[in-house]
Amino acid sequence: MDFKRYLVTAALPYANGPVHIGHLAGCYLPSDIYVRYLRAQKRDVKFVCGSDEHGVPITIRAMKEGITPQQVVDKYNAIIKDSFEQMGISFDIYSRTSNKIHHETSQAIFKKLYDDGVFEERESEQYYDEEKQVFLADRYIVGTCPVCGNPGAYGDQCEKCGSSLSPEQLINPRSALSSATPVKRKTKHWYFPLNKYEGWLKEWIIDGKKDEWKPNVYGQCKSWIDSGLQPRAMTRDSSWGVPVPLPDADGKVLYVWFDAPIGYISATKELTPMWADYWQKEDTKLVHFIGKDNIVFHCIIFPAILHAHGSYIVPENVPANEFLNIEGDKVSTSRNWAVWVDEYVKDFPDQQDVLRYVLCRNAPETKDNDFTWKDFQDCNNNELVAVFGNFVNRAFVLMHKLCNGKVPKLHEDVLDDTDRTLIDDIREAKLRVEGEIENYKFRDALFEVMDLARKGNKYMQDKQPWIVAKSLEANPEAQKLIDNCLHICLQLSANLAILINPFLPFTARKMCGMMKVVERMLDWENAGKMNLLNVGYPLRAPELLFKKVEDEQVTAQVEKLKNNLKQSTMEQQAAQPQNTATEETNAFPPAQKPEITIDDFNKIDLRVGTILHAEKVEKADKLLKLEIDLGYEKRTVLSGIAMHFKPEEIIGKQVTVVANLAPRKMRGIESKGMILMAENAEGKLIFASPVETTDNGSGVK
Ligand code: MF3
Ligand code: ZN
Repeated sequence: MDFKRYLVTAALPYANGPVHIGHLAGCYLPSDIYVRYLRAQKRDVKFVCGSDEHGVPITIRAMKEGITPQQVVDKYNAIIKDSFEQMGISFDIYSRTSNKIHHETSQAIFKKLYDDGVFEERESEQYYDEEKQVFLADRYIVGTCPVCGNPGAYGDQCEKCGSSLSPEQLINPRSALSSATPVKRKTKHWYFPLNKYEGWLKEWIIDGKKDEWKPNVYGQCKSWIDSGLQPRAMTRDSSWGVPVPLPDADGKVLYVWFDAPIGYISATKELTPMWADYWQKEDTKLVHFIGKDNIVFHCIIFPAILHAHGSYIVPENVPANEFLNIEGDKVSTSRNWAVWVDEYVKDFPDQQDVLRYVLCRNAPETKDNDFTWKDFQDCNNNELVAVFGNFVNRAFVLMHKLCNGKVPKLHEDVLDDTDRTLIDDIREAKLRVEGEIENYKFRDALFEVMDLARKGNKYMQDKQPWIVAKSLEANPEAQKLIDNCLHICLQLSANLAILINPFLPFTARKMCGMMKVVERMLDWENAGKMNLLNVGYPLRAPELLFKKVEDEQVTAQVEKLKNNLKQSTMEQQAAQPQNTATEETNAFPPAQKPEITIDDFNKIDLRVGTILHAEKVEKADKLLKLEIDLGYEKRTVLSGIAMHFKPEEIIGKQVTVVANLAPRKMRGIESKGMILMAENAEGKLIFASPVETTDNGSGVK
């Protein structure tokens, strides 16, 4: 299919905190690279984003900071917008879901579905906080996870083991707002019957997207669809959000995951009167860039809603990235374990492209990946400085030294195979980069560009024009060789500017300045050409494209991370008595469980066992499948510790096992038992093992 226009979206960030580099690497940088490439190809493209200003994380943040939700979103919307601008994320519009146009758009879509009889109206009993007088859905309610025993699981999900939950499943539920024990109250909501769209989704995704979508995205969708889709409430009892546009719906708002994706539509409306072309014509290619935690909403729920509505197109692709860890540890906003973009641009002024480079080079495209400051330094010093910057710099310096500061001529009569090979490489690189970008493989695309710069360096080393120059007196003809080498190196520099432009736009513009060419030279159609710089044209002296990152800078950043972590731990300890709730589990005071009798305790059969074997469970990031020797038998136990331990680290370890826990099936595997873990204040897990080695099967009392 030939597409006439492109609509590219990047997930609307929650306006409840600044953005960190994990956000950038997850969806904003890849989408920006893609869009800059499309624009350079002069394709018709719109790039939309904005702040997601509704939902629980925002109201909870407001309560924590003692301000109104509106104040929260005003504050963070400004910070986030600025961070994106600074990093060169080139949205055509950065909107907000608190805008009037968004309220109207999302209400109109809800109303149309309502009028068409799509929703099911259901009355049910839901948890209610009598102290705060609010219903407790999603993250307003916490309790113990029935699967892994995590005491800080939410009403919609346990972040420890990844299970998706409903508030009713939580053991010892309590309000995240007041810690009160909730009561049940009747309330009415409108449900979207996802189950009715199962057939359509199967045809569209399972049959249609298998080879097109990334395996991680396709796999998640398939497992959702295979496990059976359920109706989902599209409204909530809350005072913050888009009001439900029905007469009998006081105190009810649209579910944030109903309204937020519609924010893409509202933003397009705000951007252009031609918005409907981008949303309603089949020859538009709609691409959603997101992080992996958003897959089900963008691939299943939102498309089903649009399909039910009837007038909208659905995405052609949803290239979701995995997560970026920092220095070996999962990003945590409540523990302040993150590299914040607004701080990066202050600490590394004019070095936006270095971060863009490192994040693209190590993007978590197919698996979670790690960002370390040491690696940041190495990528900059060994690749940007030593390869790319060095090549361009040498070409310019030598041109000034050996060719009077002007672009020298190409002498066909002395052209040799080395020259011709490099000229071919330039043409080929263009095609390769194109192929990779069109397939959302930005890491590979960037590698191709760097590889071309590497070839440039090698070529220069083979030709050694500075040595050839020494023979000029004896052989004036040798000037032709020097001319050819630098002619080719300069045309290659111009090509590198075009190819690197989607990735490192600041650098590409600097290069245009050095070459005294207008930005139009960066048009993609110019890539592969060898006549980009006119012969005889004087060029400027080289500018330093990249500078070294020093050891002290690395140390300072690592220190900063550690200090942030220490400080946030201290603040949280100081704040303990107030029962403040945040979006992450670690901030909750430990739950006190109700008293039990010795008889209760004796019901638990605790045994010592040895881990014989451990492996990751496919498509479950948090689960390890363990084989445990209990002496009298061997057991398979699934444990939610994969984020904390590598399988090979724990083989041979003695652990304490709850041996008589009812078996439970997860991801198609039956788990028989549970291992005991201790958790410290920083969320680190430690095996609750016997201190001395003992026989497997020994009872623990
Ligand atoms: N705010 C959500 C998050 O940060 C993403 C919303 S994407 C949209 O996870 F589709 F809803 F806009
Ligand atoms: Zn759990």
